[in-house]
Amino acid sequence: MSLLWQKSGVEVDACIQSFLAGDDVQLDREFFLHDIEASHAHAQGLASIGILSQDEYTALAAGLDALAADWRAGAFVLDERFEDGHSAIEAVLTERLGDAGRRIHTGRSRNDQVLVATRLWLRERLDELASTCGEVATIALDRAEAEAKLPMPGYTHLQRAVVSSAGHWWAAWAEAFIDNASRARATRDWIDANPLGTAAGYGVNLPLERDAATQALGFARLQVNPGYAQLSRGKFEMAALEALSSATLDLRRFAWDVSLFTTAEFGFVQLPARYTTGSSIMPNKRNPDVVELLRASHAVVAAARAEIEQVVALPSGYHRDLQFTKGPLVRGLGHGLRALALLPDLMRSLQWRREAMAAALDPSMYATDLAIELARDGIPFREAYRQAADPARWAERDPMDSIDARVSPGAPGALRLETLRQRLAAFDEGKA
Ligand code: ARG
Repeated sequence: MSLLWQKSGVEVDACIQSFLAGDDVQLDREFFLHDIEASHAHAQGLASIGILSQDEYTALAAGLDALAADWRAGAFVLDERFEDGHSAIEAVLTERLGDAGRRIHTGRSRNDQVLVATRLWLRERLDELASTCGEVATIALDRAEAEAKLPMPGYTHLQRAVVSSAGHWWAAWAEAFIDNASRARATRDWIDANPLGTAAGYGVNLPLERDAATQALGFARLQVNPGYAQLSRGKFEMAALEALSSATLDLRRFAWDVSLFTTAEFGFVQLPARYTTGSSIMPNKRNPDVVELLRASHAVVAAARAEIEQVVALPSGYHRDLQFTKGPLVRGLGHGLRALALLPDLMRSLQWRREAMAAALDPSMYATDLAIELARDGIPFREAYRQAADPARWAERDPMDSIDARVSPGAPGALRLETLRQRLAAFDEGKA
């Protein structure tokens, strides 16, 4: 392994070296193309202030393109030959281009290099999160519209409470995922600041054109203070995981409902076979394993955020500890996004078993309607409540009457799906 910083007379111990690098070199695969993109912007900046000649810049730009092409084709593999992705880029450029390669690191540090590559990657992941949440919300909203008239028991404490509708259940997920989508986008905008050009955390004695690099990389703003750029490492990663965890928290509860509804005891939901697996011993079983793993995914995301929070218990400035923010970041965002990506199909293919839902509606579930009807007719509510608690007054009703009468805004009889539709349209147009 060749080390960027190796000087003569400094001995390198293989065990220590492999501990230093850790899984970093593998993790850097995730950010390699982003690092190349940022390196391009840095080289362009160096050319514009005369540190690189036009020829050197042209050679470096072509060299970076060629490396990206090799990477995509699998002809270049980032492995233990290198300390990290940053070193690998410089080593390859130097090997292929000579002095132009040796010049690319002028005025930059691996500290701002890792920040900018991670930032570009985070931006993409948050875009992905926003768009998946938007898709989930659309499906839930469509189903809410289609199933507004499908009666379904409403529970509190998992005990039968009142008549509700499948439309009401779907509209809850729709509104949740509109919020999740807009939080993802707001977080993307919040982290959309360029740390390139902050070097080791104190700037450099060169008139770097940081504003031009900000534009070239499509950032909304410059992250001005180099010390703050270092403080934002871990903090921005946590923000992204927090945005993701809003969605996985809802995913966890959605999956919980689905797993409960597929039990023989409830029997409300029919899952396509692809979401279930068999048992190794019990020939009779089909288990909702996929749904359960979706439910568990929130733990991975929340734990990743907590791990990063522990790592950033540091004074200001760069510390090598910060390298350990990468593992949880890649694991948490990677896993959470892979889990969420399954949700649209699960939502589309979920089938209700209407008879079981109807059979779970019993006369007690109209008691609240009755109490409120009596109160509407003038009986003080506490007295109406007492009268409606008498099972002798409970009777079968048409659940659709209960749904239609539930007209408080947002309730099953007045779902206000148009309001949700408008919010979703504003999100799709990039306005929310
Ligand atoms: N792998 C390192 C990280 O993720 C790259 C930056 C190294 N910087 C340094 N000053 N040693 O933080």
